[in-house]
Amino acid sequence: MLSERTDMGGYTLIENASLANRNTLRVDARATLLAEIRDAGKLPELLDFPAVRNGRLLVLGEGSNVLFTGDFDGTVLAMETRGVQVESDGDSARIAVAAGERWDDFVRWTLGHGYAGLENLILIPGTVGAAPIQNIGAYGCEVAEFVESVEAWDTRERRVVMLDHAVCAFAYRDSLFKHEPGRYIVTAVRFVLPRSRPLRTDYAGINEQLARMGVDKPAPFHVAEAVVHLRTSKLPDPAVIGNAGSFFKNPIVDAALADALKREHPGLPAWPQPDGRCKVSAAWMIETAGFKGFREGDAGISNRHALVLVNHGKATGQQLWALAQQVMLGVRERFGVILEPEPVVIGAR
Ligand code: FAD
Ligand code: EPU
Repeated sequence: MLSERTDMGGYTLIENASLANRNTLRVDARATLLAEIRDAGKLPELLDFPAVRNGRLLVLGEGSNVLFTGDFDGTVLAMETRGVQVESDGDSARIAVAAGERWDDFVRWTLGHGYAGLENLILIPGTVGAAPIQNIGAYGCEVAEFVESVEAWDTRERRVVMLDHAVCAFAYRDSLFKHEPGRYIVTAVRFVLPRSRPLRTDYAGINEQLARMGVDKPAPFHVAEAVVHLRTSKLPDPAVIGNAGSFFKNPIVDAALADALKREHPGLPAWPQPDGRCKVSAAWMIETAGFKGFREGDAGISNRHALVLVNHGKATGQQLWALAQQVMLGVRERFGVILEPEPVVIGAR
C-alpha cells in the first residue's frame, strides 16, 4: 500500500493529488495518482505497475494548455526532467533538451549563448516537451521550424522512439501528437538552431516597438525584448488571473467563406495561407459578438484579450467549459464559423 507521497528514486508518487497548482486556469481538480518524473529512464518501471498500466494516463507539463472539466481518474505524469545538451556546434547547433525544462528558460539560454531563431517565441509558458504537441507559435514563428526530432516513449510499442520532423506532421497548432493522444510521452526534443538568420519582425507591432526602443539594427535579443513588451501588454498573466492563453484557435476557412466574411465584415483581420485558405481572427469575432469582458460567476472572457478565457477565482472546469461553449455558439450564430478550442479539454470519464 502506497503512502500519500512515496519517493521511488527518479520519480515520486502522490495519491489523490491536487492539480490546482498544476494548471494555469487554476481549476481545482484531483488525480487518483500523480507521478513526478525526474528520470525518464524510470518510465518503463512506472508504466508497468498494474494500476498505472490498466488505467488512464495523462502527461502534464505546466498545465498551461489544459482545461480539467472534472477529476482525473488515472495517473498524471508530471514531467520534471532537466538537461540541455549541445551535441554539435558550428554555424548552427544541434541541442537536445529534456522534456521538463521550462520553455522560456530554454529560449533565454539560447539567446544568452548566441543562437538565433527562438526570439519570437519568448515568454510562452510551459515545458519543452509540450512545445511540439501543439507546435507552439507566436509573432510569425512556429517551433516546428527548429525541431529536428522528438524523442518519446511509445506506450503502444513499449519502447523509446525517435520521431523525425517529417513524421511529426506539424501544422498550425497541430501535430501527430494531437492525433494520437496518449500514445507518446515526449522525453526530449532535439533542436537545430543557427548562429544567425534573417530576423522576423513583420508581425504587427514588432517593428513599431523596435522603433520605440530606438533600435534600427536589431539583434535577436532586441526582437525578444520587443515581443516580451507586446505579450505583457496584451495577455493577462496567469500568476494574476487564471487563464490558458488563447482558448480558441484562429479558424482557417476556405477562400469562398473568407471572401464572404470580409465583404460582410470589412474589419475582420484575415491572413491568407499558402494553400489558398484564409486564417481569420477569432478574437475579433468574439469581441464583435459581444463577449469581451463577459462574465458568468467566476468564469469569464478577459477584458484585455477576447481570445482568453479567465478564471476570476473559484470557477469550476465545468463552468469554464460551459462559457466556452456559449462563446462558440454565439460566434457560430453571428458569423457561421465554428471555433475550435486550443487547450486540451480533459474530462472525467
Ligand atoms: P500542458 O498544458 O501541461 O499540456 C498540454 C498538452 O500537451 C496536453 O495534452 C498534455 O498531455 C501534452 N503534453 C505535455 N507535455 C507532454 C509530454 N512531455 N509528452 C507528451 N504529451 C505532453 N501557446 C502558443 O502556441 N503560443 C502562444 O503565444 C501562447 N501563449 C500563451 C500565453 C499564456 C498566458 C498561456 C497561459 C498559454 C499560452 N500558450 C501559447 C499555450 C501554452 O503555453 C502552450 O501550449 C505550451 O506548450 C503548453 O505547455 P505545458 O507544459 O504547460 O503543457
Ligand atoms: N483582436 C480583437 N480583439 C481582441 C484582441 C485581438 O479584435 O481582444 C484582433 C486585433 O485586430 C488583432 C488581431 O485580433 O490585430 C490579432 O490579435 P493578436 O495579435 O493578439 O493575435 P491572436 O490571433 O489573438 C495569436 C495566437 C497567440 C499568439 C499571438 C501572437 C492563436 C490562437 N493565438 O493570437 O497564441 O501569442 O497570435 O502571435 O493563434 C496561444 O496560442 O495561447 C496564444 C496566446
